[in-house]
Formats: sequence, structure tokens, C-alpha cells
Amino acid sequence: MTAVTARAHTNIALVKYWGKADTDLIIPQTSSLSLTLDQFYTDTTVAFDADFTADTVILNDHRLSRDASQKVRQFLDLVRQMSGETRFATVTSTNHVPTAAGLASSASAFAALAGAASRAAGMELSRADLSRLARRGSGSATRSIFGGFVEWQAGHDDHTSVAVPFQEQVDWPIAMVALLLDPHEKKVSSRQGMQSSVTTSPYYPAWKQVVAADLAAIKPAILAHDFTTTGEILEANAMRMHALTLSANPPYSYFNGDTLTAMQTVRDLRAAGVACYYTLDAGPNLKVFCQTPDLPAVTTQLAAQFGADRLVVAHPGPGIEFL
Ligand code: DP6
Repeated sequence: MTAVTARAHTNIALVKYWGKADTDLIIPQTSSLSLTLDQFYTDTTVAFDADFTADTVILNDHRLSRDASQKVRQFLDLVRQMSGETRFATVTSTNHVPTAAGLASSASAFAALAGAASRAAGMELSRADLSRLARRGSGSATRSIFGGFVEWQAGHDDHTSVAVPFQEQVDWPIAMVALLLDPHEKKVSSRQGMQSSVTTSPYYPAWKQVVAADLAAIKPAILAHDFTTTGEILEANAMRMHALTLSANPPYSYFNGDTLTAMQTVRDLRAAGVACYYTLDAGPNLKVFCQTPDLPAVTTQLAAQFGADRLVVAHPGPGIEFL
């Protein structure tokens, strides 16, 4: 038995993925662009053994039930199918991410699992192939194979739908302040939420145009370190993604009262001359984008209002590592 451990960091999308064209292969409706973060990661160890009589999944020291481990077991089936491995596995995973609170733990989880499981099954995959494999677990995991700014090119099949590094070494002093407003499991998963947006929101066709325009505009802004343009695009893109939840049938929202208060705080900071913008995923927690000289002003205000223990300051993080 050889155990392989991989570490993958989560990522925050600046131009969001919100909808699948193929729900089985997880081919998205649009491309997306993210920043991998240094503070949030998952370490996953996988070992296949002839003595195992079933797959076992241990997450943060707790053994998952058959139901809770279903996605992971399906992913292991895929790895077995690709590699010819026939044995069952034990997967031991530690999440250094507040789980299911909109900090995209599935991104780091499936990226780390793709790395550890494929290598434990004897495969030596390129990073592009790891990205394709991670995609089969969770869309956002496609991007977590790479560090820094990453683009997931939508593509149209398993081969063409893959992430590519946009800028792995980020030489721009930027930070993402994660504000944890509610640690609880989200009521509508991203998977359900995006599917309902694709099938019921009348604004979905417009979203596809928004994403194409935002990607075209944000890339040169990032390369030029144009903070205002980058910030304006990422904030508007996040709000337009959330407009797809409000316009779905039945309508729903990931915001809570504190989310709206925190958005206003960011706008007030901006009005006071502190350059910062927010984004948020399928949960109530805000992530505030700023440049490091503005970090003290941002964290002081957010800590005063919401508590210093609710803040995590993250910077650009690395791609997948084998430990
Ligand atoms: C709002 O990757 O969690 O974070 O592919 O169904 O597993 P599945 O969804 P997931 O969705 C992420 C949605 C998002 C935006 C993003 O990360 O691009």
C-alpha cells in the first residue's frame, strides 16, 4: 500500500462560473477566472489496499456515512476506471477552509483528491489532466490545480474544458479579506442553485454575454495592475451572478442581513477613499478585494463592525503540491 498526500488551495472566482452545459461531465456554460488563495486549503491522503472491503472517507477526523461520501466514492470509481486500479481506498482529508460557507471548499477538496487519488492509483497526470479530472468532482476544483490567476476555459467536451494559468506568479500586492458571517451549511447548494438559474432565470442568456465581456475586460486590467477596473468588474460580476438567484423560479438568495450590511460597509469605505471591492459565492460570506496598503483600513473597519475573529486575510496562493 502506498499512501499519497496532496495539498490544494481554494480559489475565489472574480468572473464566476454559474451554470453547466453538461451536468454529467461538468462542462460549464461559460469560462471563468479566479484567484487561488493561500489561507484556505485541503490536505488529502489516499491509499488503495487489497485488504479494504469498501471505500472509507474520513473528513476532519470524522468518518463520513455512505450518503455523505457518495460524491467522493463516485470520484474514486472514475479514477479506478481510468487507471485500472481495482482495490478500495481510504481517503483522509483535512479541510483548512470553513466548510460549505461560501468559501468553495469543494474546489480545494476535489483538486487535492484528484492529485492524491490519481497518483495513489499509479497515474502520473500532467497539471492539465489533473485539472480535467478535478472538474469531474466539482467545477470550481478545475481551477484549483493552478496558483495565482487562473482561467477555466469552458470548452465543449472533456478534453477542451480545462483550466489554464493566466498569471501564476502574482507580482501585484493584493489581498482578499474573507469575512465569515455565517458558518452554517448553505441551504441551496451551488449545484442546485446554478441548475435552477440555467433552467428558470429569464436573465440567463444575458449572463453569458456579461461573462464574455467581463473576461475580455478583466484580463488586461489584471496584467496592468489596474485595481479600479479589476475591482469594478469583479463586484458587478458577483452581483449579476446573484441576480440569477433572485430571478430564478422559485427565487432564492444566498445573502443574509449581515451580507447587505457588509456590502454597505465596503461602499462606505470606498466613499471615504479606501479602495476596496467585494465578491461572494454561493453563501452569505463576503470577500473583500484590496491592495495591501489599504489592508489596515479595511480590516480595522470590518473588525470593529463584525469582530476580528470573523476575518481571514488571504493573498495569492500556489497550485497543487504533493507532500
Ligand atoms: C459561486 O464548483 O461548487 O463558487 O460544479 O456543481 O460542484 P459544482 O459547483 P461549484 O460552484 C461554484 C460556484 C461559485 C462560482 C465559482 O467558483 O466560479
